[in-house]
Amino acid sequence: MRVLLAGGAGYVGTHTAVALLNAGHEAVLLDDLSGTHAVAAERVAQITGTSVPLVVGDAADDAVVSGVFDDHGPFDAIIHLAAFKAVGESTQKPLDYYSNNLDTTYALMRVGLARGIRSFVFSSTGTVYSDPADLPFTEESTTSIDLSNPYSKSKRMNEVVLEDIARVNPDLNVTILRYFNPVGAHPSGLIGEDPAGIPNNLMPFVSRVAVGSLEQIGIFGDDYDTPDGTGLRDYIHVVDLAEGHVVALEQAQPGFAVFNLGTGTPVSVHELVTSFEKAVGRELPKVVLGRRPGDVAATYCDPAKAERELGWKAQLGIDDACRDYWNWQSTNPNGYAGA
Ligand code: UFG
Repeated sequence: MRVLLAGGAGYVGTHTAVALLNAGHEAVLLDDLSGTHAVAAERVAQITGTSVPLVVGDAADDAVVSGVFDDHGPFDAIIHLAAFKAVGESTQKPLDYYSNNLDTTYALMRVGLARGIRSFVFSSTGTVYSDPADLPFTEESTTSIDLSNPYSKSKRMNEVVLEDIARVNPDLNVTILRYFNPVGAHPSGLIGEDPAGIPNNLMPFVSRVAVGSLEQIGIFGDDYDTPDGTGLRDYIHVVDLAEGHVVALEQAQPGFAVFNLGTGTPVSVHELVTSFEKAVGRELPKVVLGRRPGDVAATYCDPAKAERELGWKAQLGIDDACRDYWNWQSTNPNGYAGA
């Protein structure tokens, strides 16, 4: 298959590109480099020994997307990972988040349909589930548009739009992948997560403390109703997540489908920090702070549908993710900027 990867130079995009190429598919990356660096695409080529075209441009611009089809098409499928994803920032810049995260879908779908793609895979989030009574979340669990931040709302809005588009294009496959918490890095240490500024998410923050660029880990609350009082999340290794995109494409049937991509195993903040300390080989400075506004005590999925229908199951655990993240961070202490 020949695949257009929108947002292909980002964290999930680079790992998905590697997984596609290793499975014998072809990939072309479209990325505006607003959240990553061109060197990320070179690293994909280095890992796979295959050339990977990178087009630098805005996936929300029909002319740009058309140009990619003209120069690099035809494509069998589009994987859409081109989004703004900082939850906190989204509350400050709602217009930017709604417009970027929806306009990319509109442009990619408009051009993709006109050019005859057969599959469209969309990167969504487990935060669309809204009723904690449903834990572990299945694809049938209650979703809402009334979520705590514009980022999550924009993802749910996309799902609604895409379901309507699928309905009137019966030959098209539209697959929604609801990610839980992506962590880890490729075991080569050549690609990984490279957030700008001070990271909001737990593993990149812990990793920056380990590398010495941040002082101490802040644990956001240890008084939740969970076994050790800290928040529970379903951390999925980005290599497993990437594999999920490949099988979703390979097994795609016409119609609309939704899959959770997670491990099904909740891990607490304390457990993640302990696992990271094991990877680093020393204890890390940490302090317990108050709860972060908007956080829930627990979120994790039931990944059985993906196993049943796609034959996909997460293979890697939190220790693998911490080891691989630390391998990436310690060999690239300044991320791609240091390359
Ligand atoms: N946490 C800390 N300290 C930190 C950062 C996080 O204790 O410095 C805790 C949080 O309170 C939470 C857990 O670590 O209990 C995970 O927090 P993250 O910020 O890493 O992840 P979230 O579950 O809040 O959200 C993430 C992404 C979203 C995405 C969601 C589900 O930020 O983009 O996972 O995919 F939508």
